[in-house]
Amino acid sequence: MIAQDIISRRSETPGWTYMKGMERLVAVVQELSMARDIEKVMRIVRRAAREISGADGATFVLRDHDMSYYADEDAIAPLWKGMKFPIDSCISGWAMLNRAPAVIEDIYVDDRIPLDLYRPTFVKSLVMVPIRTADPIGAIGNYWAVKRKPAEEEVRLLQALADTTAVAIENVRVYNELEQRVRQRTQQLEEANQELEAFSYSVSHDLRAPLRHVDGFVDLLRKNSESALDENGRRYLDRISGAAKTMGTLIDELLVFSRMGRSEMRSTVVPVGRMVDEVISSLVPETSGRQIVWLVDELPEAEADPSMLRLVFMNLLSNAVKYTSKVERAEIHVGCTKGEGDLIFIVSDNGAGFDMKYADKLFGVFQRLHRQEDFEGVGIGLANVRRIVHRHGGRTWAEGTVNGGATFYFSLPSKGEA
Ligand SMILES: Nc1ncnc2c1ncn2[C@@H]1O[C@H](COP(=O)(O)OP(=O)(O)OP(=O)(O)O)[C@@H](O)[C@H]1O
Ligand SMILES: [Mg+2]
Repeated sequence: MIAQDIISRRSETPGWTYMKGMERLVAVVQELSMARDIEKVMRIVRRAAREISGADGATFVLRDHDMSYYADEDAIAPLWKGMKFPIDSCISGWAMLNRAPAVIEDIYVDDRIPLDLYRPTFVKSLVMVPIRTADPIGAIGNYWAVKRKPAEEEVRLLQALADTTAVAIENVRVYNELEQRVRQRTQQLEEANQELEAFSYSVSHDLRAPLRHVDGFVDLLRKNSESALDENGRRYLDRISGAAKTMGTLIDELLVFSRMGRSEMRSTVVPVGRMVDEVISSLVPETSGRQIVWLVDELPEAEADPSMLRLVFMNLLSNAVKYTSKVERAEIHVGCTKGEGDLIFIVSDNGAGFDMKYADKLFGVFQRLHRQEDFEGVGIGLANVRRIVHRHGGRTWAEGTVNGGATFYFSLPSKGEA
């Protein structure tokens, strides 16, 4: 009675054609390329198998050592979902071991079929295709409630589905492996960050204490024994406290730099033109009394953390001001061009410039190309610039010639492409 009912509902899917199957296969290839876990692959495939072939049922079988595991199914009545059979006594096993499709027109006259397992089901005919023919990892079964001989193209379509499935399963494996590796890397990075944190803390503490001692004893020496020192002695004291102060600054800057890499980023849309104007205004103490021509192009909006981006411009513009201090009429240009998927900001000046041989060194921590006597500085500004820009997904680079000015570039991914 039930079997009769099923047979009357069985679908020689009305309107099924090779073209439709083909169209469905193309769509499935796309769907499968997005699948990131094996459950999703199975869900797509078990449905697609029926749609492609017009079958009454489909199973997704995975090889588990010497067993065929019927992992999933989509059919008009239950088949063998969740069951395992020895690989040498079922038809999925046959397809895997023989690396070829099994096409069975009438299951009751084929001795490869374990009839006991089939009798309770609606199945009368089937096509079983191996997943990955070189070294099968599973199989896809397609079942009909009537005896029928499938067309050759039909079998070919199903085999194409199985081949695509093999690629999708391989993708899932690679994806999981990559994800695992990313997780490991992230953990390593977190550990390294914590170490750096601890290191920064100990730098500030452990180096500062002896520095305070040096400073304190210089003070004491000045107060108590200044009269006992001659001119040279007093000069040495000045040098010692000067050096201690410099070292204090270096430590402070190093800590700021290390914090810069860890602080949280809050990106918003920044009107860069206005930001640059503000930075230029804040440089008045350094620029007053000097002849500086500012050429600021119209600048676009950019997606960035505003306080970090301000620091980038602060460093580049104050460098431009500083390294033009020896030319009579300084010209500082700020511009922007649109690259492929990013914005490239440009800050150029007509100052002291630098030797291109060292162009990449500039961005290193405490790397300076000019002498302290000529241009004062710590050597960390551009390191901060690079770190900030990298955190935003951009790049930094520079061009210059000795006494011919310098141009600094940094890119930021365009909105929506970060
Ligand atoms: N506009 C410029 N023209 C020529 N050289 C520059 C320019 N900007 C930077 N440099 C070179 O790059 C080096 C590194 O710049 P950076 O801003 O990191 O350090 P700094 O300006 O020396 O010190 P600070 O950390 O105080 O900014 C400078 O010492 C200088 O040699
Ligand atoms: Mg600087």
